[in-house]
Amino acid sequence: MSVHKVVKKITTHILQEMKLKGEKISMLTAYDFSMARIVDAAGIDIILVGDSASNVMAGHETTLPITLDQMIYHAGSVIRATNRALVVVDLPFGSYQGNSKEALNSAIRIMKEAEAHAVKLEGGREVRESVERILSAGIPVMGHLCLTPQSIYKFGTYTVRAKEDEEAKRLIEDAHILQEAGCFAIVLEKIPYKLAAQVASELTIPIIGIGAGNGVDGQVLVLHDMLGINNEFSPRFLRRYANLYEVITSAVQNYVKDVKAKDFPNDSEQY
Ligand code: KIV
Repeated sequence: MSVHKVVKKITTHILQEMKLKGEKISMLTAYDFSMARIVDAAGIDIILVGDSASNVMAGHETTLPITLDQMIYHAGSVIRATNRALVVVDLPFGSYQGNSKEALNSAIRIMKEAEAHAVKLEGGREVRESVERILSAGIPVMGHLCLTPQSIYKFGTYTVRAKEDEEAKRLIEDAHILQEAGCFAIVLEKIPYKLAAQVASELTIPIIGIGAGNGVDGQVLVLHDMLGINNEFSPRFLRRYANLYEVITSAVQNYVKDVKAKDFPNDSEQY
């Protein structure tokens, strides 16, 4: 029987067990109560309250503008909807880069005010001290390497990272550093699948990929992308499991039509 099927609550230890048993880990984003309730009940292992909320929920062009208060608001809504999944919350841009004390204070606010289960932050060797300090307070930390959207203005583009040897070597080193610092898992975003598979086989902690191929320990997607709510974003790595943009458009059009035609509400829909 798979670990996924028998477990009532996913913990970082369960994720480690899944890696050992070769059982893939499923992870999706959610930012609000209603969606998180569906995603959790459907059996997802990890819900990420990603700073992609900045794009998806608030319409910003990048993840940079979202604030710690806004992340805590989203995280609290998700936590109230979740019974089984491990809920990981992104530390937003500007809430941890200053120094490790700032990182710890931000992580504590997320755990205390939203009652989250873990935090995620972007970066390798440069965040090592912060990872260790957050962990020293008993807060599990997930890493995030390669295409780290909070550094988009440094990269200049959202294209595949670590195609050159030098960046690939640095990535492997950073992944080891994060593991030694105590991260319970690492997200690798948009890198060649062979490199991602190499990292997953070298490291003992779970490696979760987005655009990182099938040789890693689990997969993460942005919920609104995989549901086809956002139909303007079509990277190669994205598989769409629904076309909710069309479903919602047609439902709204039918509602407008019925209201205009005085067909809604009908006799059975009124008091
Ligand atoms: O914020 C987010 O949605 C993420 C995923 C892309 C991993 O960090």
